[in-house]
Amino acid sequence: MLQLPQRMGWQVIFIFSWVSLCFPLPIINKRDFLIEKENARRTGGNLVLGRSEEDANQKLMQLKEKEVTKAMQTGLFPPSMHFFKAKALIDQSAVFSILKKMPKGGALHLHDYFILSVDWLVYHASYLPDCYISFCPSWTVQFKFSSPHPPMDVPPDCSEWVLLQTYRKNLNNVTQFDKSLLANLTLVTDTPEVTYPSQAFIWKRFEKIFIVASGLISYAPVFKAYFYQALLEFYEDNVQYIELRVILPPVYELDGSTHDKSWSVAAYKDVARQFVKDHPDFVGAKIIYTTHRNQTVSRIKEAVRTAIALRAEFPDTVAGFDLVGWEDGGHSLWELKDALMIPRILEEDLPYFFHAGETNWEGTSVDKNVLDALLLNTSRIGHGFALPKHPAAMNLSLEMDIPIEVCPVSNQVLMLVSDLRNHPAAFLMSEGHRIVVASDDPSIFGAKGVSYDFYEMFMGIGGMSADLRTLKQLALNSLNYSTLLPKERDKALQIWQKKWEEFVAMASDIIPELVRDMVEPSLSPCY
Ligand SMILES: *[C@@H]1O[C@H](CO)[C@@H](O)[C@H](O)[C@H]1NC(C)=O
Ligand SMILES: *[C@@H]1O[C@H](CO)[C@@H](O)[C@H](O)[C@H]1NC(C)=O
Ligand SMILES: *[C@@H]1O[C@H](CO)[C@@H](O)[C@H](O)[C@H]1NC(C)=O
Ligand SMILES: *[C@@H]1O[C@H](CO)[C@@H](O)[C@H](O)[C@H]1NC(C)=O
Ligand SMILES: *[C@@H]1O[C@H](CO)[C@@H](O)[C@H](O)[C@H]1NC(C)=O
Ligand SMILES: *[C@@H]1O[C@H](CO)[C@@H](O)[C@H](O)[C@H]1NC(C)=O
Ligand SMILES: [Zn+2]
Repeated sequence: MLQLPQRMGWQVIFIFSWVSLCFPLPIINKRDFLIEKENARRTGGNLVLGRSEEDANQKLMQLKEKEVTKAMQTGLFPPSMHFFKAKALIDQSAVFSILKKMPKGGALHLHDYFILSVDWLVYHASYLPDCYISFCPSWTVQFKFSSPHPPMDVPPDCSEWVLLQTYRKNLNNVTQFDKSLLANLTLVTDTPEVTYPSQAFIWKRFEKIFIVASGLISYAPVFKAYFYQALLEFYEDNVQYIELRVILPPVYELDGSTHDKSWSVAAYKDVARQFVKDHPDFVGAKIIYTTHRNQTVSRIKEAVRTAIALRAEFPDTVAGFDLVGWEDGGHSLWELKDALMIPRILEEDLPYFFHAGETNWEGTSVDKNVLDALLLNTSRIGHGFALPKHPAAMNLSLEMDIPIEVCPVSNQVLMLVSDLRNHPAAFLMSEGHRIVVASDDPSIFGAKGVSYDFYEMFMGIGGMSADLRTLKQLALNSLNYSTLLPKERDKALQIWQKKWEEFVAMASDIIPELVRDMVEPSLSPCY
């Protein structure tokens, strides 16, 4: 064994580096070749930008570098901080202001009752007439719209229903009350690491909030208005299309009567159609029927049959089926294989969009969901957080051209990863895996639209290599891997392309000013 003393090793390296710098030795060529190879492989690496795109890219990267350099000095880099603390910083970011303006294509991973900022629920929905509230010590609050006065159907530990209008009238400080309502409709807190000791805990809280929000959103007039407002919020965030996972809980009227699932799907369809009529540069919405994975196998079989029936009734609106809820706390896909094979046995076409691998527990049956989702012919994988731990599944998803829906803020808040630079999608991006970005449940995280997730993706997960090509590829993927029919997709791409060109021109115009406005860093991070 040849053992060089430490000092001698450094001398050798020094001489070698010096020689390499002065003479183009093969090692330099090899290094360039390998760097080139890596660059071509990563998400967007093969896109060729036009001249105006190149110009905008250069400026955007200058802005990004300035922001990152500043973060290195202050030690405050939003993607490495918890979103609840990072959000205020992101709101001030110049890069974020550009990403908000970027046409992002489709948001393909979202859930029905958590897509619109909760402000609308508190300041609009809860102020509508006939809204009742009940206080439950272990449960925060519950809402119900009713006329006449609702029946005494509250759980034993809850107060009687009181008319919210009357209740507010008797309060000393309505502002404070409304603020506490807002807080009870999200997971946001200043101290997430203390408030949420475990994933089991935060998921329990999550499901409680669903029940709180449900009382408001499941009231028929609010149900429709909520969806319209949500489409508006995404539209204003420069999203052109959405796919929504829905559990279709019963929607109710003032007299307590309820509607069936077909009514709700028809409502989604009508509202989306009305929205497109009012905003012709929006493409529309489709839904994916879902059911909670923590149910008996027979209930899940029933849900699969419901999905088949709904898809037959609304072929252009219902895109497929998925399972929701905490993955570690519910059935694995393999345990449900009998239910999930039903469409094949019936020779019915039911595309799957499985959440899979939203777990940190390697080797469990839930962890194998990424592989099982692929074996069950999933059209996309929701989260796929565990995918890089499974090379065979990763190869299979590449072979089958199955994209991963990455939701950075969600993964961080739900405690899968703390520093988003370490998110496994960083590895998938460097491998050129197909990826789309989405926001899962933006309202419960205190976010809005999908721009915050694009920011985390662009600044954190993608590292310094992510540039305009990355962003363009992510937007293109979101339309290409959507369930839009070929004709719908062509139209969507056309709308997006026009917006993209406008965005590129605008970005070239305004970024230099943003760069000038940024406080000049006093220290270089490169020593
Ligand atoms: C009411 O509460 C808000 C928010 O907590 C507070 O800013 C405001 O000063 C309070 N107003 C009164 C009159 O106490
Ligand atoms: C909010 O939740 C807390 C418990 O977490 C509860 O004490 C409070 O009454 C709730 N407030 C409102 C207005 O819902
Ligand atoms: C799922 O259901 C089982 C029993 O049916 C229960 O013990 C468990 O707590 C549930 N998990 C969640 C996350 O709801
Ligand atoms: C998945 O698709 C392949 C190829 O189309 C087919 O052979 C297989 O039976 C399908 N599996 C299921 C579970 O539908
Ligand atoms: C994945 O694919 C690569 C290249 O195609 C191959 O070298 C590797 O053995 C495959 N890995 C597995 C686990 O199948
Ligand atoms: C679009 O998706 C198809 C598979 O559905 C894939 O073959 C193609 O390469 C994708 N195109 C782009 C531009 O991503
Ligand atoms: Zn989800």
